[in-house]
Amino acid sequence: MKIDGQPLRPLRALPARDAVEIIDQRALPHALRLARLASVDDVCTAIRDMWLRGAPLIGAAAAYGVALALGRDASDGALHAACERLRGTRPTAVNLAWALARMQRRLHDLAAGARAAAAWAEADAIAEEDVATNHAIGRHGLALVERIAHTPGRRPGPVRVLTHCNAGFLATVDWGTATAPIYLAHEAGIALHVWVDETRPRNQGASLTAWELAHAGVPLTIVADNAGGHLMQRGEVDIVFVGCDRVAANGDVCNKIGTYLKALAAHDNGVPFYVAMPTSTLDLDTARGADIAIEERAAREVTHVAGRDDAGRLREVCLVPAGARAANPAFDVTPARLVSGLVSECGVVPASADALRALARKAAAATEAA
Ligand code: MRU
Repeated sequence: MKIDGQPLRPLRALPARDAVEIIDQRALPHALRLARLASVDDVCTAIRDMWLRGAPLIGAAAAYGVALALGRDASDGALHAACERLRGTRPTAVNLAWALARMQRRLHDLAAGARAAAAWAEADAIAEEDVATNHAIGRHGLALVERIAHTPGRRPGPVRVLTHCNAGFLATVDWGTATAPIYLAHEAGIALHVWVDETRPRNQGASLTAWELAHAGVPLTIVADNAGGHLMQRGEVDIVFVGCDRVAANGDVCNKIGTYLKALAAHDNGVPFYVAMPTSTLDLDTARGADIAIEERAAREVTHVAGRDDAGRLREVCLVPAGARAANPAFDVTPARLVSGLVSECGVVPASADALRALARKAAAATEAA
């Protein structure tokens, strides 16, 4: 994506192969700040403390974390230790485990002297494949948007999309997953308007999705998370696109907390609810959504909110009575029956066990052929 006319990615390997540079998402939307990660420790901190976040981006960053570790020590023990540490940073998005398993498969049988270069090359491949995957998701999702835009007798005006959290280019290496159809539709000249859920408690929608859509020139309105049902009931949403952190073998979708409520409202109001899913987010080893570990984050993310005051100073303020307890489950599970379709790089498929098994076979065949 271009930000202020300059191509920008949330993660890139530096040419000297001694560090990666990321957009430090904690500073957005108030400042565009880059951070340099020069060790596996740095990468673990950046993932755990959400300097970067989003399932595909976490996976790619972890792959580079392995490369950084092996640059210092390429022994079997160091490879194993780096992967274990990275795997423990965040539990829910399967892309992290997927990328680490891929790195281990690629590196395990190599001589120690060959490992660091191979690790950088494999991490680059993961990153570049993510870009191509998301663009393909965008093309398949674009067809859904076009169908709505060209429905005979449709009310005049833009196609109205609702999205939750940030499944945008900031959550991936480029394009985003749920935003890829939006960006391609915008490029194709289809008039769009995006309802952006603020996504309490960390406000990824208000801070990140709104920032990146605005920089791309896509019209948007931020709404409180509680507004989605009302908008759908009033006929003001044509389609919902969300991302995902793990899709179970039966088609249940785990995504940012609040996604389930949007799916219920969409189902009740006949609004199509689509999940953008790179096949790296499909976890056939997990039978159903109830088996997915849901990350519980710090209560402070609920009790406090950060922002900029009118004088331009960044502040964090408390929202709750002193000493109040708060719980912070970071993800929820949307049952497969509420999902209109999963938009993958190989096409749009139903959220069903049979369709997902077939999709996994198709994706594996495509990888082998490449
Ligand atoms: O906790 P986060 O911000 O990492 O959660 C991100 C989401 O839930 C995204 O919607 C999901 O990872 C899809 S990213 C393309």
